[in-house]
Amino acid sequence: MPVRSKARRPLIAGNWKMNGLARPAGTEFRKILRHAALPRRLKSEIVICPPATLLAVLAAFWRRSGSKRRVALGGQDCHPKTHGAHTGDIAAEMLRDAGAAFVIVGHSERRADHGETNAVVRAKAEAAHRAGLAAIVCVGETLAERDSGRAIAVVEDQLAGSLPAGANARNTVIAYEPVWAIGTGRTPTPRDITQVHGVIRQNLAKSFADGTDFRILYGGSVKPANAAELLNLANVDGALVGGASLTAAEFWPIVAAKG
Ligand code: PGA
Repeated sequence: MPVRSKARRPLIAGNWKMNGLARPAGTEFRKILRHAALPRRLKSEIVICPPATLLAVLAAFWRRSGSKRRVALGGQDCHPKTHGAHTGDIAAEMLRDAGAAFVIVGHSERRADHGETNAVVRAKAEAAHRAGLAAIVCVGETLAERDSGRAIAVVEDQLAGSLPAGANARNTVIAYEPVWAIGTGRTPTPRDITQVHGVIRQNLAKSFADGTDFRILYGGSVKPANAAELLNLANVDGALVGGASLTAAEFWPIVAAKG
């Protein structure tokens, strides 16, 4: 039986990755703010994670908007330390200072491009918590791992290694993103997603007192056309959206699909 909890407010997160210059990105973000400001029921919370260079730019629009409680900003990565000689890195405290309330950690592109291990991801999640940010901790198997029947074991291992002891449902969100579904237009079957999300839920419930209240997002080729189906699966509490989050025209229908 899927574990259900009324406490879980859906979260639709946009991961802009390394895309966006101030002017056009500001225009898209303001469109999202305007959609969110319309006086209608909105089940989901929204977070946009732009490149760090745009956080302060977008935060200025956000501060002036009427949808502050519905939309938040997030970073895409942070360094475990508060400050120091780490050229090119950004501390969680800096993201917070620039207007972020969330930060993605352990995205598969970081794990692959920068060799981030579970231990590094855990240290980054701890840094997020220290700075008062909610960590969106990403897990997910590669195609080779899925094809060899190891998807569940890989995800369980990533979860166990990447979540700090201080994680709770308020400061941590899980994103299940099969690597082979990211940016490819391919998605797992509803059955496969339900299975993995169910396993994640069971693991959280075992390890954390409020494990049934953590939000578990699905990510990987979420589009307006498949959002309603994916977002209504058991234990899918929202989505982490890459390509389709770059324009309000594609992103908002995904938000609307959850209600
Ligand atoms: P995608 O990316 O929606 O473009 O597949 C998702 C992600 O990497 O977070």
